[in-house]
Parts: sequence; structure tokens; C-alpha cells
Amino acid sequence: MTAAYDEFLAAWPDYAGTAAVDALRAAEYRRLDAQRHVYLDYTGGSLYTESQVRAHLALLGERVFGNPHSASPTSSDMTALVENARRAVLDWFNARGQYTAIFTQNATAALKHVGESYPFGPGGHYLLSVDNHNSVNGIREFATAKGACVSYAPLVAPELRIDRARLADLLRRPGPLTSGAADPAPKLFAFPAQSNFSGVKHPLELVDEAHTHGWDVLLDAAAFVPSNRLDLERVRPEFVSISFYKMFGYPTGVGCLLVRTDALPTLHRPWFAGGTVNFASVHARQHRLAPGEAGFEDGTLNYLAIPAVEIGLRHLSSVGIDTIQTRVRCLTGWLLAQLLELRHTNGRPMVRIYGPVTTGDRGGTVTMNFYDPDGHLLDYRRVEELASRERISLRTGCFCNPGAGEAAEGLTDDDVIAAIEQSPDLTLPRFLQIITHRGGKSAGAIRVSFGIASNFADVHRFVQFAAGLRDQTRLALGEVTFDIESCRVIRDGS
Ligand SMILES: Cc1ncc(COP(=O)(O)O)c(C=O)c1O
Repeated sequence: MTAAYDEFLAAWPDYAGTAAVDALRAAEYRRLDAQRHVYLDYTGGSLYTESQVRAHLALLGERVFGNPHSASPTSSDMTALVENARRAVLDWFNARGQYTAIFTQNATAALKHVGESYPFGPGGHYLLSVDNHNSVNGIREFATAKGACVSYAPLVAPELRIDRARLADLLRRPGPLTSGAADPAPKLFAFPAQSNFSGVKHPLELVDEAHTHGWDVLLDAAAFVPSNRLDLERVRPEFVSISFYKMFGYPTGVGCLLVRTDALPTLHRPWFAGGTVNFASVHARQHRLAPGEAGFEDGTLNYLAIPAVEIGLRHLSSVGIDTIQTRVRCLTGWLLAQLLELRHTNGRPMVRIYGPVTTGDRGGTVTMNFYDPDGHLLDYRRVEELASRERISLRTGCFCNPGAGEAAEGLTDDDVIAAIEQSPDLTLPRFLQIITHRGGKSAGAIRVSFGIASNFADVHRFVQFAAGLRDQTRLALGEVTFDIESCRVIRDGS
């Protein structure tokens, strides 16, 4: 590995400037190497340090906390910590005074807030990129139910970037007026700052472009913010969704919807709940929603976990988001180059990468499939099984992003409709079988992703594993042995 590391450093000299992370890995993430784990699923979830957990545990062990938002000492202590965390989140995104931070359970719950509260209606529009997580795709159900149009902005293969010309057309198309209304009906445009499928960083300038044409913008930043700076003073979408475990591993169960404060009145909550009202009457059947974030934080927050968000942000800050970005870029660049060089003895390529094959405008998520010497696709589930034996944690499937997967494989409407018609109880494995029979296409792939604790050894071990597939035929590789009907396979986790 030493020779490979020297070559890597020569090709990616900026990596040397991130050496502090190697010390951090040895001290704070030592469980990875002690147990020979190669963790390559940072887009699924980041990893926490030992000291993050210790600091949180110490806080819980030393203090007495009650349910926040009442006047008792235990409650007001807790309220203060929740509000500190809220300020820390706003500061992290340079959004204090401009945005409202609504704590949610995860990014999905943040997105659902927008879906159910955005004033979609006849004459309105929901436009989204084909590359989106299902939690953004799912908003189309709210839009359709309220009579708004739904359109998708396509991707251009093989890089899987948004088709800018087509998007410009879709943004320009004037929204029809709601009947009798003076104002155009509200229009929402949604896209991910970084794809959780291909790693593409979609241009943040799209926010301004959409604004110019009167669109509100929902920026799904869940996969972007773990290794990139998002400055909400420079990029000003109305709505931003994030999950904190993706940024620093701990805590799970806390996410955030950042809403530009001047856009908050756009959202109309379809209900009220405990914690969200200043006043509610049963007799009069009236309620008055609490202003600001309180109107959106249903019931009791995950209040004991929320202080760990501030601890996590302090950790990210001590490492430096730019250091993480540099490190991830170097590791990604080396991985891409190595994978592209992998050939079977007969000269055929072993790997197909979906998305950009250089580091320009892309992050540290690399999605691929492997092929045998005859060009047959290797079953990604079998590859995952083999990787697991070597304690390599990667992700397979569609990553809850069916649009990017369909674009990557060139699946047509006919392919998908035929599969749905053949199999009313369609699951991803069944879809895969049908699609493969229909002309050798594939659905599903293998994803590796880098983050805060990644190092060269992780990438090197994965490349060695990949090289071990050289000259393996599909038959020699063997059958998938895990339970195909297992929950994980069917649900196709994110
Ligand atoms: C881009 C993107 N958006 C949204 C989500 C949903 O996040 P969560 O499952 O934490 O709600 C994910 C999860 O992987 C994601 O990658």
C-alpha cells in the first residue's frame, strides 16, 4: 500500500494538507480500524466520534432535564439548550436572522412539511429534477391531490446533470393564472444540491434562475452538507432540508427544515397539534397557530438528542468543512481513476460508473456496476455479499432515487410500465428480473461514498476488492445467498 499511497499523494497533493484527519481517525474513530471495517456509506449516514458521544452522555449524566417550554428549572434548562442548538444550526449555515430553523425527525419530515403546507392548487406547479430522493418525489402526491401540475426536469446521461436548456424552458413557461386571481398560482421547484445517486453537485445558481421566473425553491441539501459549505447568505432558497446524522453521525432522529423567514407565511399547516398552537378551543373549534418554528414542531421534540446537534457542529467546525471537502475530493478522484483503469485480461472494462468520472462539480458519492469478461452484468447483491465478507460496508440498490437510476440505465416509460403491469406487487428485486429479461438493462447499482473519517486505506481496500473481480464470470461468482425477500432489499433504503 505504501507505493500506492505515494502515487496517490503525487496525484492528489492537497490530501497532505488534511493529515489532521488521520490523527483524528486514529483517536476518535479507532473502532473502525480495530474491527477492520471499511466504511463506505457516508451518504447513507456519517460516523460519530467517541468524544461526541461522551460529551452528550456527560451532559445527560450531570444535568436534570424536563420536557422543554415550561417555566420549571428543569424545563427552562432544556429549552435553553434546544435554543442554543437552533442558533448553532443557523450560524453554521450563515442564516441567523434570515432563516427559521424547524427541528424535525429527519430530512424526510422536513420535506413532508413543505409538501403538506405549500399552497399547491389549480394553476400551480411542482417542478423537480429527475434526480431526487423519493422524499422529494413524494411531494408530487400533495401537489397532484391539490390540483397542481407536476413536471420533471430531465437529466443528461452519462454525467447525469440536469438538462439546463430543458430546465430553462420549464422555468420560463409562464404559470397559468388561478381563475379570477390577480397573482400567479404558486410554483415550487425542487432539486438536490448533491445527488445521493451519482454524486453530481447540481449548480446552486439554479436557485436564482428559478427565482427570476417566480418560482419558490426547495433545496434538498441532505447529501451536500456533510462535506460542503452551504452559505445561505449567498444562496437563498425558500426551503432547505437536512438530516444531522448525515453530517456528523450522531444523533439520529433529528433533522431540520430551514425556511427563509420571509417565506414562512407561504406555508399553511393543514392541522395543529400539541406544541404548535398559542390557542385552541374545542367549543369554538378555533385555533391560533404559534408563530415561527413553534407552529411546525409537532408534539414533543427529541429534546434530549438536540443538544448533540450543537456538539456535532462543534466537531465539524473543529475538523473544518473545507478540509473534509478536500479530502473527499482527493479520495474520489483517485477512486474514479483506479476504477476506470480496471480491465479484464481480455481488455474489457470491469466497471461502469454512473455520473461524472472526474472530480469537477461532483462530490464523494460514486455509483457503479461491475461486468464480467463477456460484458455480463454482475449482480450487485452478490457483489455486496462478497464485499461484506471483507468487512466493506457499501450500499446497493436504487438508493431511494429511482429517477437517477432510470436515467443512468436508459430505462424508458415502456420498460417501467411493462414491469408494473406484469407484477402488481412490484418490488425492486422483481423489477430487476423483469428489466434484465427485457433487453439486458439493469436497475440498481453499487454505491460507495466518502466522508469525515475516510482515509486512503479505505479506498485502497475497496479498489483491491474490485480488482479481485477481474476475470470472474457471472457464473463463477455464484448466486446471491441472502434472503431476497428481506425487508432491506424490498424497501431499498436511502
Ligand atoms: C439527498 C437526500 N435527500 C433526502 C434524504 C432523506 O433523508 P432521511 O432518510 O434522513 O430523511 C436522503 C437520505 O439518504 C438523501 O440522500
